[in-house]
Amino acid sequence: MGNMIADTRNNFLARLESVFSVTSEDAREIIGHFHQDMRHGLAGGASSLKMLPAFICRPKGTEAGSFLALDLGGTHFRILVVDLDGRGRAAATAVSKFTIPQALMGGNGESLFNFMADGIRTFFDSHKLGDKQVYDLAFTFSFPMEQQAVSSGILIEWTKGFSAIGVAGRDVMALLTQAMTRKGLRHVRATALANDTVGTLMAGCYEDPACDLGVILGTGTNACYPEQGERIRKNPALGACREMIVNLEWGNFDKLKSSVYDQQVDNASCNAGRQRLEKMVSGMYMGEIARRIIEEMTAHSLLFAGHGPSLLTREYALATEHLSWLAAGTDIFTGLGLIDISAADRQTIREIGRIVSERSSRIAGTAIAAVVTWMDPALVMNHTIAIDGALFEKFPGYENAMKAIIRELFGNNAARIKLKHVRDGSGIGSAIIAAVAASGQCPPRL
Ligand code: GLC
Repeated sequence: MGNMIADTRNNFLARLESVFSVTSEDAREIIGHFHQDMRHGLAGGASSLKMLPAFICRPKGTEAGSFLALDLGGTHFRILVVDLDGRGRAAATAVSKFTIPQALMGGNGESLFNFMADGIRTFFDSHKLGDKQVYDLAFTFSFPMEQQAVSSGILIEWTKGFSAIGVAGRDVMALLTQAMTRKGLRHVRATALANDTVGTLMAGCYEDPACDLGVILGTGTNACYPEQGERIRKNPALGACREMIVNLEWGNFDKLKSSVYDQQVDNASCNAGRQRLEKMVSGMYMGEIARRIIEEMTAHSLLFAGHGPSLLTREYALATEHLSWLAAGTDIFTGLGLIDISAADRQTIREIGRIVSERSSRIAGTAIAAVVTWMDPALVMNHTIAIDGALFEKFPGYENAMKAIIRELFGNNAARIKLKHVRDGSGIGSAIIAAVAASGQCPPRL
């Protein structure tokens, strides 16, 4: 009897592994679709990749000054003062972090921006920054924006569980400025507004000029790269630009083979049908995918002898962090209140975590390969990929699995692609954006 269950369980896991697999063959196909969507997106046609010009180019590494940086994009709102020394070094000299109440993420937009302005007031008071100096503000807003200049941008749609009303379709820098005015903060100049991937690319380039891709693998996932102005056909005015950073919004890529669990996660989300790649790859969702697999295996009596803990029937009760600890060999079960769990069940859950995370990292590696080959089809140059986010930084084995698919795709040439962890692209990087913007060097004309 026991053996029969073990066999069925192993068959289930084998099927799961095959449904979640991304072979090098699949990866090549994905890259083809990716290129097609990049092309259509740049031309303004129908595409799952938004290809959004950021109205900034890469830094020279000589930018200097002190900037006020704001960072909104996940569960926290951060405020920093960042000093750039003009020799490729950047440091945050004051930092405050505020947890965004869940009610504000889905409430009224004005309250969200008031919350940020209140945070800035508290920051000025607690770090004793006077009202005399005017600060150049760099705002990292990690959502898709339509920009016509580096200092403003219209939110296209919320992602990552945000749904605050009255913000989509509006200029977020104007909303922030109005909120700051309401709170009497007048000594702040709105200088730069950018996506977190752009900050990450800028921070990577500030140290290493070979850097040409900025990637986030955290709560959400996305990337940006420097594009030639003439290839951005949807905006002919950019034709004379030698270089323009383009935010792909790759989280919305929709040509991946998905499982029934992905469909369930998507259906239950507040943006169903959108951000399909993100929902298969990023930290916000991996735990939930695994939880749904566990739920199904329990329903078939392949886990917990059919009587799973009620905790695991709650949406998002299993976080990606749990999978990460599991991969590190830590016991997550006691913390989750699961005391009498059998060795076989532990092993099965560990296996589920591996299957879900491996697919994520192989898709991430494939997406990187797609953008690199878009820029350099024969892979003749070196590319440093600046990457930030907890998945890449902390998930055991994640980086290695990304490298594995890159090696499968490019053989020896894979050595030309260097994955590099860049710390705090959204804080430090945004200050670099503000410095480049303030210097007037961007976007450069031919
Ligand atoms: C989501 C956002 C995107 C951001 C990414 C990483 O995909 O839409 O703008 O860059 O998360 O934070």
